[in-house]
Amino acid sequence: MMTEPETIGIFSVIRERRSVRNYTDREVTDEALGAIIAAGVQAPTALGLQPWQFVIVKDRDLMRRASDYCKPLLVEKIGAEPRPGIDEFLAALKSPEFSIFYNAPVLVLVLGARDTVSSVLDCTLCAENMMLAAWALGIGSCWIGAATLIEQNPDLLAALKVPGDHQIVAPLVFGYPASLPPKPARREPRITRVP
Ligand SMILES: Cc1cc2nc3c(=O)[nH]c(=O)nc-3n(C[C@H](O)[C@H](O)[C@H](O)COP(=O)(O)O)c2cc1C
Repeated sequence: MMTEPETIGIFSVIRERRSVRNYTDREVTDEALGAIIAAGVQAPTALGLQPWQFVIVKDRDLMRRASDYCKPLLVEKIGAEPRPGIDEFLAALKSPEFSIFYNAPVLVLVLGARDTVSSVLDCTLCAENMMLAAWALGIGSCWIGAATLIEQNPDLLAALKVPGDHQIVAPLVFGYPASLPPKPARREPRITRVP
């Protein structure tokens, strides 16, 4: 059993977590992934339905294939709706070496049952729990929304063992950070009080 670090308070984990985009080759063990998924499934779900499944992908060739498939689609998509700050990502996508998974050692797909209306919300809560739990274990993560484009490729879906009655909600990479980016600043929340 993986022991949970008791000294790390939840507020500090929430505050310090950030998306990691540079990983070492160190393996994320099945034990650690088990602890991360166990934290994920503690999330609340509408009607308690828990409409999720998980696919753990450690096959780097398959991740490369998935990345190579998504990249040109992303260039098309992002190029069509330019936004500030996107140029760097667009340039990276055009580089053959770049992986949308940032060479992370493992990808976990959080899948949501298609027949459950609240699937996307439930799986999103699960994904956040997973990223926070990973951070508490010293493991970085990044939600790779770009990888939901895999949904358009039946061969990749089959290779990734995604069942037809489930959709990819949260593609999450995990790994030990090789370096940490600065935490992106948060806007001051707009809060209305009644009364
Ligand atoms: C739904 C969703 C999709 C995301 N997709 C990507 C992605 O495709 N690639 C990426 O590098 N980061 C992706 N991110 C990470 C965000 O860019 C990141 O959370 C945001 O910039 C705030 O930074 P922080 O997570 O370090 O606080 C995604 C985050 C969410 C919630």
